[in-house]
Amino acid sequence: MTAFRGASFVEPASLRAGSLLAEKYRVEKEIGRGGFGIVLRARHLKLGQTVAIKVLTEGMWGPEWASDVERFRREAQATAALRSEHVVKLLDVDVLPDGRPYMVMEYLEGETLHVATYRRGPLVVAEAVDIALQILAALSEAHSVGIVHRDLKPPNVFLSRAAAGSTLVKVLDFGVSKVGAEHGGDRSLTRTGAVLGTFAYMAPEQLKDAKRVDARADLWSVGHMLYEAFTKQTPFGPITSPLIATAILQNAPLPLGQLRPDLPPALVAVIMRCLEKEPEHRWETAQEVAEALAPFASPRGRPALETVRRASGPTGVAAALPRQRPRGQGQPGGQAKPVTLSRILVDMRVLAGATLLVVGVLLGAVLARACLHKEGAAPPDAPLPANTSPR
Ligand SMILES: Nc1ncnc2c1ncn2[C@@H]1O[C@H](COP(=O)(O)OP(=O)(O)O)[C@@H](O)[C@H]1O
Ligand SMILES: [Mg+2]
Repeated sequence: MTAFRGASFVEPASLRAGSLLAEKYRVEKEIGRGGFGIVLRARHLKLGQTVAIKVLTEGMWGPEWASDVERFRREAQATAALRSEHVVKLLDVDVLPDGRPYMVMEYLEGETLHVATYRRGPLVVAEAVDIALQILAALSEAHSVGIVHRDLKPPNVFLSRAAAGSTLVKVLDFGVSKVGAEHGGDRSLTRTGAVLGTFAYMAPEQLKDAKRVDARADLWSVGHMLYEAFTKQTPFGPITSPLIATAILQNAPLPLGQLRPDLPPALVAVIMRCLEKEPEHRWETAQEVAEALAPFASPRGRPALETVRRASGPTGVAAALPRQRPRGQGQPGGQAKPVTLSRILVDMRVLAGATLLVVGVLLGAVLARACLHKEGAAPPDAPLPANTSPR
């Protein structure tokens, strides 16, 4: 869950290293900090298990507290709804005695994609593509059950160390995910004074209206992350620029092929198609992107590719929304009504009724004129005859 907020916060003493949380977790250290809270490494006292605990700390009892808590609950539900090995595992969710909600996750060792990209990047083709395939495996499951992440970016992708030195990619932070009612979702949940998600990584349609996004917004992010992994820069200029949102909406991405002429042109084309401004011009599903990336993967990318292939397509809020037409064109929903027999019949009846009305009015006018002529009466607005004068 990420947001641009004004002030930073100071965590309460109960969350510092050494303190006991919920009577069973010993806090070891802080491992992450975002717009709404902190992530701690802790140890379960009875099980001896190391866990990561995310605690909502910011804005406590402020005007937005209730909706922040609700969004936190939604993040937990979205994460729990997913079984993919590429989504961080949720172990527990509860509320501390002082009212702060927290969630307990499996503790991951490794580094985020952000750290990998900027500390040791640019990444080589097969490594970046294998990572993308694992992200797509997580997304294909999320989309198939009607969940859109909406905040995919390198700090929310964790490259965890798995057995035999391999990398197991885990997607974190479903805090601003868009979920359907079946996952306890509330499509209208927004926050005043805060922008949910991070501008620099948002698809153009999400910048315009966060509620009008579908699976294709996440595919934009996949292309964005690959672009960054290969260039150590973002496609629309520095992410801290105040003009970043305008650049995303209006500018073409800096050509990847020019920045990295050594990359296979077909791979560049896959990434640039993710970054098309109109969702209709992008790939439509995680499956399509995975198939397009497959030729550039190493054999280690194979299991993720197979997982994506097995997933069904996007459903619910993840399913592709109809294209929105500019005002004045087509129907308000952006979709023209299909021409059906019943519509043709209705239209014919309306036309016949209008014709009858016009004929009736004309006939009435002709008859009235004929009567007036017959009685020799002057029309009401006719001038008086010259030889008459009023008495
Ligand atoms: N399960 C975890 N294991 C290890 N580190 C984690 C875990 N979850 C989060 N982190 C670290 O904390 C950071 C913030 O976590 P995230 O869930 O993205 O929270 P936020 O809502 O604050 O962005 C991550 O970028 C990562 O470095
Ligand atoms: Mg985050």
